[in-house]
Amino acid sequence: MDLLKMELLNVPQLPSNPLFVSLILLFTLLIWLKLAKRKHLNLPPSPPKLPIIGNIHQLGKLPHRSLRDLSRNYGSLLLLHLGCNPTLLVSSADMVREILKDHDVVFSDRPSSTATNILFYGCRDMAFAPYGEYWRQQKKLSVVELLSHRRVHSFQFVRDEEVELLINKIRRACLKGESINLSEMLMLVSSNIVSRCVISRRSEEEEEDGCCKFGQLAKNTVVLLASFCVGDLFPYLRWVDVLTGYIPRLKALFGELDSFFDQIIKEHTTLKTDDQVSNKDFISIIMQLQKDGMLEIDLTNIKAILLDMFVAGTDTTGATTEWMMAELLKRPNVMKKVQEEVRNVVGNKYKVDMEDINKMKYLKCVLKETLRLHPTVPLLVPRQTSASVELGGYHIPSNITILINAWAI
Ligand code: HEM
Repeated sequence: MDLLKMELLNVPQLPSNPLFVSLILLFTLLIWLKLAKRKHLNLPPSPPKLPIIGNIHQLGKLPHRSLRDLSRNYGSLLLLHLGCNPTLLVSSADMVREILKDHDVVFSDRPSSTATNILFYGCRDMAFAPYGEYWRQQKKLSVVELLSHRRVHSFQFVRDEEVELLINKIRRACLKGESINLSEMLMLVSSNIVSRCVISRRSEEEEEDGCCKFGQLAKNTVVLLASFCVGDLFPYLRWVDVLTGYIPRLKALFGELDSFFDQIIKEHTTLKTDDQVSNKDFISIIMQLQKDGMLEIDLTNIKAILLDMFVAGTDTTGATTEWMMAELLKRPNVMKKVQEEVRNVVGNKYKVDMEDINKMKYLKCVLKETLRLHPTVPLLVPRQTSASVELGGYHIPSNITILINAWAI
C-alpha cells in the first residue's frame, strides 16, 4: 500500500538490491578511510592562508625574499597553497641534498604550465620533459654532447671574438666621450655568444625578410614565461588568459619562433657535412646524432631543445655579468684588487686569453660571490613529485610542485 502511495506521489524509491546497498556502504567507507588517512598524514606546516587564493598574496614583488621570510617564521619545509596548486617550499641545504641525492627520481618531473606547453611543443624539450626514457636521453645529450667541458672549450673562439667586439665598442665610446649602456651591451654579448654556439648566427642579425631580430624573439619568450597566468593557478579560470590576450600572445610568439627554427633547420640541412666538421654548432651536432641513429628525436624535439638553450643561456649569463659589474662599482676597493690582478697577470699583452683567466683567482672568487648573492634563477626551475615520499620526517604527497629557494639557502 505504501509502495503504491509513493509511486502515485512520484517519490523516487531506494533500490533494495543488497549488492547496490553494499556498494554504497563500501564507497562511503573508502571516502571515510581516505579522509581519516589524510588527517593522520604528517604534512609540512603551512602558513595561514586566505580562502581561494591560498598563499598567493604572500609572494610579494620579489618572491624569493618573501618566501625566505616565511621559511624563517614557519620552517625550512613549508606546504603552500598557490591557488589550486599545493606547493612545497624548500629552504635548507640538507633538505635539497635529500631531494637530489636520496629521492632524485621522485623529484625529477617538472610541472608544466600554459607557457611551457605552448612554447616548448608540449614540454618536449630538455628542461621540462617528464621523467622517463626521453628525459634520460635529453640529460645524456646535454652532459655528453652539448654542454660537456670539451664542447664548451671548443667554442672559446666565439667568446673571444664577441668579447673583443664589446671591448672595441666601449673603447670607441670612451674616445668619443660618449656614455654607454653596459646592461644592454652585456646582454647582447651573451645573446650573441649563445646564438653563435647554438645556430651559428649572431642574435642581432636581421632576418632575410628584415622583419624581426631573433634576439627580440628570445627576449619575448623570457617575458611571457615569467608572466602571471591565471589558468595555471586556477584551472577553471583558464578562459581569463584568452580574454587578457596572454594565450593569443603565446600562440603568436610560438608561430614566429617555429618558423624561425624551421628556416634555420632548413639552412643546416642543405649545408655539406664537411663544412661543419671543425666547429659544429648545437643544431648540427643534434642533427648528426639523429642521422647516425644515436638520438631518437624528431624535428619538434630539436626545435624545443634549441629554444631551451636560448632561454636558459642568455639572460642568466648576461644578468650575472651585469650584477658582477654593479657589485664592483659599489665596492671600489674590490674593483681595485681585481684590476691589479688583471694587470699583473696580463702585463703588456694586447689580449686576455683563457690561460690568463685561469690564473685570476681573485676574479673567480668575485664571480662565485656574485652567483651566491644574485643567483639569476633564485627559486631554480620548479620540480614536481611523481609519487608520495617521506622528507625531513614529513609526508610529501604525489603531484605537488617543489620550489627550492636557492637564494635563501
Ligand atoms: C651564469 C650562467 C647560468 C646560470 C646561473 C644558470 C643557472 C641554471 C639553473 C639554476 C638551472 C636550473 C637547475 C634546476 O633547477 O635543476 C639551469 C638549468 C639549465 N641551464 Fe643554465 N645557467 C647558466 C647558463 C647556461 C647556459 C650558457 C646554458 C646553455 C647554453 C644553460 C642551459 C641550461 C639548461 C638546458 C638547463 C635545463 C637543465 C635541465 O633541466 O636538465 N645554462 N641553469
